[in-house]
Order: sequence, then structure tokens, then C-alpha cells
Amino acid sequence: PIDRKVDSVLNLMTLEEKIGQMNQYSGFWNITGPAPKNGTAAEKYQHIKNGWVGSMLNVRGVKDVRALQKIAVEETRLGIPILFGYDVVHGYKTVSPIPLAEAASWDMETIKKSAEIAAAEAAASGLNWTFAPMVDISRDARWGRVMEGSGEDPYLGSQIAIARVEGFQGDFSEFNLAACAKHFAGYAFAESGRDYNTVDISDNTLHNIILPPFKAAADAGALTFMNSFNELEGIPATGNAYLQREILKRDWNFQGFVVSDWGSIAEMIPHGYAANLKQAAERAINAGSDMDMESNAYVQYLAELVREGKVDEAKVNDAARRILRVKFMLGLFDDPYKFCDEKREQETIGKKEFQDGVLDMAKKSIVLLKNENNMLPLKKEGLKIAVIGSLADDKTSPLGSWRIGADDGTAISVLEGLSEYKGNTISYAKGADVALGNPEFTQKTEINLTDKSGFGEAVATAKNADVVIMVLGEHGLQTGEGRSRSNIDLPGVQQELLETVYKANKNIVLILNNGRPLAIPWADENIPAIVEAWQLGTQSGNAIAQVLYGDYNPSGKLPMSFPRNVGQVPIYYNHKNTGRPGNEDPNSIFWSHYNDVPNSPLYPFGYGLSYSTFEYSNLKVSATTLNTGKSITVSVDVTNTSDVDGKEVVQLYLHDLFASVTRPVRELKGFELVDLKAGETKTVTFTIDEKAIAFYSANKKWEAEPGDFKVYVGGSSTATLEGNFTYTK
Ligand code: IFM
Repeated sequence: PIDRKVDSVLNLMTLEEKIGQMNQYSGFWNITGPAPKNGTAAEKYQHIKNGWVGSMLNVRGVKDVRALQKIAVEETRLGIPILFGYDVVHGYKTVSPIPLAEAASWDMETIKKSAEIAAAEAAASGLNWTFAPMVDISRDARWGRVMEGSGEDPYLGSQIAIARVEGFQGDFSEFNLAACAKHFAGYAFAESGRDYNTVDISDNTLHNIILPPFKAAADAGALTFMNSFNELEGIPATGNAYLQREILKRDWNFQGFVVSDWGSIAEMIPHGYAANLKQAAERAINAGSDMDMESNAYVQYLAELVREGKVDEAKVNDAARRILRVKFMLGLFDDPYKFCDEKREQETIGKKEFQDGVLDMAKKSIVLLKNENNMLPLKKEGLKIAVIGSLADDKTSPLGSWRIGADDGTAISVLEGLSEYKGNTISYAKGADVALGNPEFTQKTEINLTDKSGFGEAVATAKNADVVIMVLGEHGLQTGEGRSRSNIDLPGVQQELLETVYKANKNIVLILNNGRPLAIPWADENIPAIVEAWQLGTQSGNAIAQVLYGDYNPSGKLPMSFPRNVGQVPIYYNHKNTGRPGNEDPNSIFWSHYNDVPNSPLYPFGYGLSYSTFEYSNLKVSATTLNTGKSITVSVDVTNTSDVDGKEVVQLYLHDLFASVTRPVRELKGFELVDLKAGETKTVTFTIDEKAIAFYSANKKWEAEPGDFKVYVGGSSTATLEGNFTYTK
């Protein structure tokens, strides 16, 4: 029935009106004020009235959204409502941890809940579409946008993609947003980790590593996709028919629409793939880009291109149909003001239950990296605690990158979180700055971060303390779009500060705030306790304090490998074996390795400690052979060997020993988050079927190939309990 409704609207539309649906503009003036007289803003305003704007981004708040929607509904010929999109990436006003941190929870229910909260809050503010989830698999910590994804693994990334799409979209009620799986595709594989850089990857990597989370998002019903800034096989993704028309729309039967990334149609000119904007428009639509975000290409040239016979009108019809369909799905034709309820907006923003939800998510996102001699949790009474580092006192940085809807200074700082525990005394010293001036420009000011004048105070404060809590890392805006780094150590003079304070007091708990894996080999060797606290959002400080004091037992596991140094990057657990994988002859130098560091990361994918300890035993594979159409099970006993209740992420990995194309040494194929009371044992069972062992083969299709497999189960990607089976067809 939706398709009939869509066609009934489409049949009424002129070519220009259809193209109008494919045009998206960013917010540009105070909508509720007078319309500007001239310039681009005036032009955009006029275009809305003409019915030439299908969507707006960056317009939010019921008042403004309603004002624009009113123009579309009441002043255009057909009254087609506008889609209002925004980057609701990890919250709107109430902010959840950055997506990479959420991924560390391995907790799909809570991740889904976090997306639900973001959607409910944003939808109350007039929005109906989010440019999330970002499902790019990333292996390069230098790339600033790793903070926005789920890390390095396609299986974990797929589960999270599903959770987020379901969380955002729900049942398309007034509390939901249309989701947008982005960036299609390959964006995270930018050479040297430099944002927007060239991508040159094999079809094998594309299909086996990059595409699975996109496919999962499409299967979960994501209404929209966004293409990406990079090229693939020499063709910009925006002009790439293989990606958009063949894989997404033909093979996956995706019924939603593809929005370009910001200006990415126009960017095909500097890419060297279009001579001018008109040709860029032609290439983009022919390749399957349905909506033009801020390139002004379709609205200017598409009608002309159709008339000249360079673009088949059927392609315009198809794009407009897809966009109208999403509007119908969201219920905008029934009620264009469905998301415009001032009272709901007032009652919803910052709700207590949202605060509780993001706090829960934040606690679950924390990863305990080191805890020598059970230094943590801290005693609740009688301690003199020194807190050092500007990030400890920062109420903006924890909001992280892509929290554009939230106001500066709205996060709970670490100092505030700790102050909830009254039994200990706290003294604070800044030590050093991590970001000077306007954090928006941290890239530019970072080079000035050489001021060590606060070191003396930090040392004096540390000397008097029983425990020193150092909060170091990256400012929340040192990661994100356009914020790649060639070095991934502690920025500025923080490493020096850490070593200087260490000389005065070795009892240090290092709290890391960062949006990407950092290289911290010295800290790992010397600092007794290290807590990965990312950028945890609005409730950051409370979450950190509750973990430090043991009111929450950490259970997070790393979604990305932490390298020993930047030279190991890209580093990821699911690498290939190579023809020379090992050093059986210790005197040989002719095997795949470095002379100066081991191949292994500092902290592997899937790694994370707890205040509990867990033991794995009794691995059983139910049969030695997996037959076509059948399944086998793998079970393992997991015991909490400590006297503290805890949670463990039990992980299953497979190794396909030989195939028509080389396969990774390990691949995550299942995981379960298990609650274990002190002393308790549970048996965890995984099922393996053909789907689990299928991959994109030499035949250029997903299939399971006969052969031998190894099974590993444990608490990280270095799990040692091992079994095996053979697959026969
Ligand atoms: O959604 C984003 C995208 O991820 C990067 N470029 C801008 C878009 C809209 O803000």
C-alpha cells in the first residue's frame, strides 16, 4: 500500500518537483525571523517555496522546524513535508558515550537503549532523521573518526549496527528517527589514517570486512544510507554505481534512499572525476546517489540533464520515489507536524530517565586495562586522593565529538563525580592543559601545549596523597571528523607530566579520556592501574567515580586493538597469516615481523579486566563434522573465581585454515555477556552453522567452503582454549 501511495504523489509531480525532493539544504538563517532578501539564503528560502527542497539538515527545535515545515506544507504546490536530518550520533542534549566507547560494552540491549534515548530526545525537538549509525569498520587509530564507529570487527560491528538501527527507528513512532547507515563505503580505510584521503582496498576486504555491518543495517530496515567522501577503485563513492546500484540497491534490494555526504557530489570535481558541477550531478545520479546534500548540483542541473538525454528520467523517478517512501514510512504525510509538539519538547529534553540511561551506558563502556595488586576499587574512607589533569575538571570534553546538539559544560566532570564520595579527601592540580582556547580549534592550538608551569603544583599535590588519580588523554574535540593525528600518544606534555608525577608518587590510577586507541607503552609498564574511560558523555564523571569505588564492576572489552606504537598501525586481530607468520627458528630474520617491537598489540581486541576473575574450562565441540544444512555447538564453562559478582563477555572465534582465498587467523563469530555471581560457574553455548563460516570467496559470492576449522573461546581475541571441526558439503 505504501508504494501505491508513493506513486499517487509521484504522478502529480513535475520533473522539477521530483528533483526538488532530491535536494537537501543546511539551515541558514533564523527561520522564525524575517527571510533574507538576497544571497544564497534567500535563494534557499525561495527554493523551499517552489517545492524544490526535500530535506533540511541542521534545523532543530520545534519552533524552527515547524516554521519551515509550514512553508513546505502550506506554500508549495503539492505540500510535501520536509525531512529534517541532524547528526544525532550519540545523543542529542543528553549525551551518551561516544560510539566507540559504547561498542566496548558489547551490550546490545544497552546500546539499543542508548539509541532509543537519543531518538526520543531529538524527535521531541522536531527532528525525524539522524545521520547515524556510522558503521565503518576501522583499523587505523590515526583516523579521527574511529570514535564514531564500533571498532575493527565486522561481526561486533554488525550486531551494533542492528542494535542502533532498531533503537533509532523503533516502530517509526513520534519518538523515533529514520536511521542512516554511513559512510558507504570504505571511508575508514583512508590511506595513512588521514581523513578524506584516498582509499585503495581489495574487493575481498570490501566484502568480508567493510560491507557486513552495512548489510546488517540494511537488513535491519535502515531507511537511509549516506555515501562517503573517499574513492574506491578510482571512483568516488558518490559516483560509484558498483556500490550504490549494484551492491546496495540490486543485490541487497535496499528500498530506502542514499544521501550524499556534505558536498560530496561537488567534491567529485577536485577528485578529478567530473569536469564541472553539471557532470558531477550526472555521474552522481547515474551511480545511484538519490539526495544531494549541499552541493547544489541536482537542483541546478538535473532537469537539464534529463532534457538532454544524459540522465534517464526513470532514475529521477526512482530517487524521488525512494525519498517519498521514507516520508510515508515516518508518517509525515499523515501528520507533517508529528515531531512538532512544543509541550513534549519541553517535557522531554534532559529527562531524568535519559540521564539514568546514559549513566548506565557510560559505566558499561569503561574498560579496565590494568589493575596491579588490586589497586582498584578504592577504599571509600580515609584516603587522601590527589586528582591531576585538566581533563579531570572539564565539563565539555567528556561530551566528545559529534555532540553538536548538546551545550558546552553540561557533562559531569571527574572531580564532580568523585565529590559524591565524601569519605576521602580530594586535592586537585591541573598539571598541564590538554586543549587551549576554543576546543573547536584544538588542532591548531595543540602545537602550543608546551606549558609545564603547573608541574610543580601537581608534584606537590601528589606527594601528599595516598593515591593519585591522573586524568589524561585527548580532549573530546581532538577526535572526530577532520581530526586525524600522525601520533597517537598522550598529546602535549601529558606524558612528561605523568612521568614527573610518578617520580613523586607511584600509586597512580591513570584514567584515559580518548576517542581512539592510544599508544601508552610507558604507562602500561609503570602505572599500576589504568582505566579506559573514553569520552563518556553527560554522566561521565559519575560513571568513572562509581567504577573507581567499586559500585560498578567494569566489564568492558576493547573494540579496537591498542598498538604499542603508531608504527604498528593499522593493527587488528583478524589479520591474515602470511606465508611467513612465525619465528620457529629464533635466529631467522626472514619472517613477517618488526625488529623493534613484537607484532602483538599492547592490548588486544576483546581485552578488558574486571574486579572479578574468570576461568574458562571444558571446551566441547558437539561434533567433529559440520554437515551442509546442519549446525554444531561449542560450549564452555566459565567460572567466576573471585569473591565479587561480575560480568564477562565470553567470545567465540573461528579460524578457517584454508580456502579459495586466504582467511584471517581468527574471526569473532559469537559472544555472550554473562552475569556470574562470586564463585558461580555457567555453561555458555554457541551454535555454528554454514552462515557463521561463510565468506566472500574466490567465486565472488558468500558461501561456505569445505575444510578444517579451529575454534577458540575465551575472554579476548587471544583466547587459548581450542577445539576443531571439519565442514563437509
Ligand atoms: O553526517 C555528516 C557526515 O558524517 C560528515 N559530513 C557531514 C554530514 C552532515 O553533517
